[in-house]
Amino acid sequence: MVLWGPLLGALLLVVVGYLCLLGLLRQRRPQEPPLDKGPVPWLGHAMAFRKNMPEFLKRMRAKHGDVFTVQLGGQYFTFVMDPLSFSPILKDVKRKLDFVEYAEKLVLKVFGYQSVPGDHRMIHTASTKHLMGHGLEDLNKTMRDCLSLVILGPKGPSPDASSWREDGLFHFCYNVLFKAGYLSLFGYTKDSERDLLQAEELFTEFRKFDRLFPRFVYSLLGPREWLEVGRLQRLFHKTLSVKENLEKDGVSNWIAYMLQFLREQGVAPAMQDKFNFMMLWASQGNTGPTSFWALLFLLKHPEAMQALREEAARVLGEAQQSFNLDVSVLQRTPVLDSVMEETLRLGAAPTLLRVVHDDHVLTMASGEEYRLRNGDIVALFPYLSVHMDPDIHPEPTAFKYDRFLNPDGSRKVDFYKAGKKIRHYTMPWGSGVSMCPGRFLALSEMKLFVLLMITHFDLELVDPDTPVPPVDPQRWGFGTMQPSYEVRFRYRLRSPE
Ligand code: HEM
Repeated sequence: MVLWGPLLGALLLVVVGYLCLLGLLRQRRPQEPPLDKGPVPWLGHAMAFRKNMPEFLKRMRAKHGDVFTVQLGGQYFTFVMDPLSFSPILKDVKRKLDFVEYAEKLVLKVFGYQSVPGDHRMIHTASTKHLMGHGLEDLNKTMRDCLSLVILGPKGPSPDASSWREDGLFHFCYNVLFKAGYLSLFGYTKDSERDLLQAEELFTEFRKFDRLFPRFVYSLLGPREWLEVGRLQRLFHKTLSVKENLEKDGVSNWIAYMLQFLREQGVAPAMQDKFNFMMLWASQGNTGPTSFWALLFLLKHPEAMQALREEAARVLGEAQQSFNLDVSVLQRTPVLDSVMEETLRLGAAPTLLRVVHDDHVLTMASGEEYRLRNGDIVALFPYLSVHMDPDIHPEPTAFKYDRFLNPDGSRKVDFYKAGKKIRHYTMPWGSGVSMCPGRFLALSEMKLFVLLMITHFDLELVDPDTPVPPVDPQRWGFGTMQPSYEVRFRYRLRSPE
């Protein structure tokens, strides 16, 4: 027994020594981007990166320029910061930059889902079929009905619905969007009361997982948190199990299509449950937080709220009185579209990652060439290099509801960097092979929610002077940001005029 201590210590030393050596041995080769291994062997810059990703990347850009390679936890990441040079990475005609390899490892760890050949392409096929075009029209109607069920309750508005009620705005938006989104996609039964209760319970557990998520991905959980994550994973696998789904009526065609593919590939039911968990996460993790920022910006900018209410009155007309609005109006709302695009510009901060296969030469817009090394990861962080670039978006930190409107009121799509028209002027949905396949549904459901809230409710902040809260720095790189504290608000159903 006594020998185990020194033996384990020695083993640990060998492992740590080996890992450090790997880092120490790496040298920048000719034509490679500047290499910054960071202050700590193996960990590299991981601490500074996690503490505040945009600030860290700003420092690196100031030191090294638009392309640099940094070490983060033993892995080398090459960040490309010039958006005019994104196209060759996103198009990747030579197929040397791989999204799937990285994603497969991540989803196995986080959701327990083991990929099968063709599933990534299948998700995009299913989404083109059912989350766009005609499929989307049907789903929008379901989403509208589920939103009204969640907001008004199964029996419609209660007699006291026109009295003021108070809640946290973040909690309210996330809760409503989650429940409506979950019921629309994963199905409902004839018993709406029970469905709502179950969705509420699931939301509570979802938030527990959501809070642990960033540190889980970075493997930074304490022992108790590890146990909690395991419990939550099992709970989601069970609640979303294909067996439970069989009992439901309204499972969306999107989910049904994907599960059928998995069945045909011989994927075991237990693995299909894990797939469902992954889809729940992908479909519900960002719409609630984005809707929160949208409503908060509207409440903080009365001129935006007024412009939006005017647009709503114009396109909805008499129908404004009813929750049962015609979903085709969503195609005639340029002001709301601009509000959502601006909200996503300010609030969405995903990192786009690709694994380099074989050494690969990246040609920048300037004509410079950089050799990327096999096994490294190419990373884009559009929040900093696009959304916050003052050349593309003047006064980038300000919310301007009409930033994406032309003077004639049509959608603005012309943006420039260094005098050149820029294709990727916002990238909340990522781009290329991994571009969010749910983006049209996401936009419609968030737009429906905002429209219903501003036309049917009086809304106000409990403290009108409350500032827009800073974002929670843990979540940089993971999609839509969340606030670092809650904002209280009041709402009441408007009496019909
Ligand atoms: C505001 C809401 C949303 C935002 C900001 C968002 C953003 C994103 C981003 C940035 C990615 C790419 C991740 C990467 O490159 O690694 C992504 C992927 C994905 N999103 Fe969304 N998303 C939203 C809503 C939705 C919804 C509503 C659905 C489904 C109904 C959905 C389904 C997916 C799926 C399945 C993927 C994985 C795609 C792949 O593996 O290629 N998302 N999303």
